[in-house]
Parts: sequence; C-alpha cells; structure tokens
Amino acid sequence: MPIDFAAIPRSALPGLLCSAPKAELHIHIEGSLEPELIFALARRNGVDLAYPSVDALRAAYAFSDLQSFLDIYYAGASVLIEEQDFFDMAWAYFERAAADHVVHAELFFDPQTHTVRGVDIGVVIRGLHRACQQAQSQLGISASLILCFLRHLSEDEAIATLQAALPYRDLFIGVGLDSSERGHPPEKFARVFAMARAQGLHLVAHAGEEGPPAYIESALDVLQVQRIDHGVRCVESPALVQRLAASRMPLTVCPLSNVKLCVYKTMADHQLPALLAAGLCATINSDDPAYFGGYMNANFTATFDALPQLGAAQAYRLMCNSFEASFASDAAKAGWTAQLDGAFQAAAAGA
Ligand code: HPA
Ligand code: ZN
Repeated sequence: MPIDFAAIPRSALPGLLCSAPKAELHIHIEGSLEPELIFALARRNGVDLAYPSVDALRAAYAFSDLQSFLDIYYAGASVLIEEQDFFDMAWAYFERAAADHVVHAELFFDPQTHTVRGVDIGVVIRGLHRACQQAQSQLGISASLILCFLRHLSEDEAIATLQAALPYRDLFIGVGLDSSERGHPPEKFARVFAMARAQGLHLVAHAGEEGPPAYIESALDVLQVQRIDHGVRCVESPALVQRLAASRMPLTVCPLSNVKLCVYKTMADHQLPALLAAGLCATINSDDPAYFGGYMNANFTATFDALPQLGAAQAYRLMCNSFEASFASDAAKAGWTAQLDGAFQAAAAGA
C-alpha cells in the first residue's frame, strides 16, 4: 500500500524525523571529537592544546569558511595517538548515532592527519575498525570505513597513503577526497583514484561545497566517483542537475555544516528543497557534528524547521535515498527500507 503522506500531520513530523531509521554517509570521524573528549585524550596522551579549557575551545568554533574550520579541526585531531583513542572517538559517535536511529554509517577518516604526526596507519584503521565491529554487535549499527585523501597535499602523498593502507584493504570499503577544495580540483587525484578503483574500492569525493560545478563534473568524469559529497553548488548548472538526477547520482548534503561554513547565510536559504524537487538522490548527513552544532537528528530537525516546503514526503525520500545511496548489500537496503515504510505507514495511520 502506498504511504499516504498527506495523512501525516505536521505535528507528527518532528517525532518521525527523529525515530525513523536512517543511514549516515558523510561523517568525518575526526569531526565527531567533542571538546570534552579532546581534553580527556590530551590529558591521557600528554598533548598540549592551544586552548585553556573546553569552553575556550568551543568558543573558537565560529567559522567564516571551510579553511577556518579545517585549521581547528586538524588541531583537535592532534590528541589522537593510540589505537584506543581512535576506538574511543568512533565509539562515542556510534552511541550518538544509535540514539538518532542511524542503522547504517559509512565513516570517513583522514589517515594523513595522523601519519604526519608519526602515528602508524594500522593503529588508526584497527582502532576505528574495532569500533565498527562493536557498533554492529552491541548497537545493531552496520558500519564501514572510507579512507579520505587530503586534497591540499600532493597526489604522490595520496598514493603513498593508499599503498600504506593496502595491508588493511579488507577493513575499509572505499576512498574519498576531502580538505581544502578551492584550487585542488578532483583531477589532481586521477591516478590514485584509478589505483583505488583497480583494488575494487568504492569511490566518493567532496565536490561543489565551495568549489564550482566543474569540480563535480571532473569528480564524475575523471575520478568516476559513485557519490558526490556536498555537491550543493550543482544548482548553478541546470544541465548538471539534470545529469545528476537522470543518473541517480547521490549527493551527501550536510545542512548544518553548510550554514556553519557560510555556504548559505541561513538554513532558510538552503537549496535542499530544490535538489529534491529536481529528483536528485539527496541525503542528509552531519559532516563534522562536534563542530557544526549536531548529529543526524539535529540536522534533520534544523532543516525541516527552517524549510516549510519540506514535509513528510520529503523526509521519507531523504531517508530512502540514504539507503539507496549506501554501499550496503541489496538485502540490507531492502530490510531498512521496509523498516522505514513501517514507520511512515504507522504515522499515516495515526499510530
Ligand atoms: N569539507 C572538506 N573537508 C572536510 C570537511 C568538509 O566539510 N570536513 C572535514 N574535512
Ligand atoms: Zn565533509
């Protein structure tokens, strides 16, 4: 039976947004480090921080653009040294994700941020992987890892990172591209993405967050990615929007991030309604939740509060898209989609 979205009252929407099952496909695990955990790990590892207190650190979270955020984000990650630190960080995220009814998560991690400080890449991957396994066994969350290359560094460094990670090939499912976008177009990483493709890894890339629509096109054409992270600047090119819609190319949109990093002045200016109306496979994600004001449900809630064009049908579509766009098995996707249908059918029936 089709879901009667019109039968779901607006008053039921906030609860439904929070309780319905969803997948998170764009979360930098280093961006889930809360100030309290940064200070606890700094104490544990004897790392000096440039901020005297949790409050002083949090007060510095006022960003003008992507770079102003990245400077603080990399400083925060400097407290991660031991395998247990990476486990603790990811476990804290999974506990919050479970509370938000995230049933599947694909976590980005930035090995170069750690290897440059002398941390072995195996320490990073093993700690994160152990947390992913425990998320499945204790929280019922299916979780996997995507290794991101830092695009402000060279392609040769990205290749060295991929090679260093290959002994752990079975512990991550794909590669991505993050950090400073402007001046670092996707095509700079053509060779390393081809190498990753030859390994059977999934491919994603940040494009069209601050960079132009042409970066989205080269991520598709040169890197041959399967998802675009952010991608919101596609709206500047109607032909590109059409291409993305026709190919069901997913966009992992991060609404609170976009406002915090001044991609949009306010949430009311966000283009998510237009992306959905154009038939794009858009999803909602938290990006760096410790820095941008909230995790998955905070993103859903802030987005729907500010954009009255979005209702129950769009909420269902976004969550359904998150399963479709994931790298999970078809059987897992079908199971989660059935759960999602159940939640919306119950809401339509007034349950
Ligand atoms: N964009 C680019 N790089 C990043 C981000 C982001 O939003 N978060 C962490 N690294
Ligand atoms: Zn991101």
